[in-house]
Amino acid sequence: MLVTAGATEAIAAALIALMEPGDEAIAFEPYYDSYAASVAMAGATRVPVTLRPPDFRPDLGALQAAITPRTRLILLNSPHNPTGVVFTPAELARVAELAVEHDLLVVSDEVYEHMVFDGTHLPIATLPGMAGRTVTISSAAKTFSFTGWKVGWVTGSPEIVTAVRTVKQFLTYVSSGPFQYAIAEALALPDGYYASVAGDLRVKRDFFCTGLADAGFEVYRPAGTYFVTTDVRPLGYDDGMAFCRELPQRAGVVAIPSSVFYDNAEAGRSQVRFAFCKRQEVLAEALARLGRR
Ligand SMILES: Cc1ncc(COP(=O)(O)O)c(C=O)c1O
Repeated sequence: MLVTAGATEAIAAALIALMEPGDEAIAFEPYYDSYAASVAMAGATRVPVTLRPPDFRPDLGALQAAITPRTRLILLNSPHNPTGVVFTPAELARVAELAVEHDLLVVSDEVYEHMVFDGTHLPIATLPGMAGRTVTISSAAKTFSFTGWKVGWVTGSPEIVTAVRTVKQFLTYVSSGPFQYAIAEALALPDGYYASVAGDLRVKRDFFCTGLADAGFEVYRPAGTYFVTTDVRPLGYDDGMAFCRELPQRAGVVAIPSSVFYDNAEAGRSQVRFAFCKRQEVLAEALARLGRR
């Protein structure tokens, strides 16, 4: 195991460690924006496989078709930001099968592992043939709501962790030293803590998704994470970017245009992502303001 400056450094260090210029990394888009930057820093090329509404389920045929002799790894993120999709065991098994068949590594970003409402989280490293080819990444940022502490970690085979450590050595050497003790304590909390994290967020998910639908959004209900992707076309907008630029002034609410999470920005043009990791009264106030059009 290696402790990193958040999952973000873990992703960057893993990609720089494991990829050579000219290699390809396949990632399901929309994706967390550091993926594009980290693949670029590794001198590699990203190959997106698009998740599409309304359910955003991974197209595993498209994943297979995206694999070339240059593919080095699959960058996986389940539960998935920004769509809230949680990959099923069958989907993960197919990803694993393709990785084994084509001798690929999997970098598995599992920062939302404890925020699952429907289905269950299955670490892909536990599937047959995957322990030696998976870099599993998580972080204290989401589970403990300590985003600013930047404590993340990497687990994997000794060879993989050594490779990632070799890069981290020259990125930050060590990070968040004093906080690591606190997070180590937190990780020993009983299961009830983790259940309450998911339970509290499930209530907020239900409340916020219902409210957004009542306010006129098309809502793609997330199975995990604390994000909800919506479509703003029913509100008379076709450009999520324009919608999000207006929203702070119009309603005092901030959302992110999902097009920023796509290579193929057109695919996410009318989508907008909200975060519901807020107090209930803040969510209620946001919904009231969004409803006042
Ligand atoms: C999918 C995903 N991975 C990684 C991170 C970053 O985690 P950290 O704050 O630990 O760097 C985020 C944060 O938004 C995320 O959404």
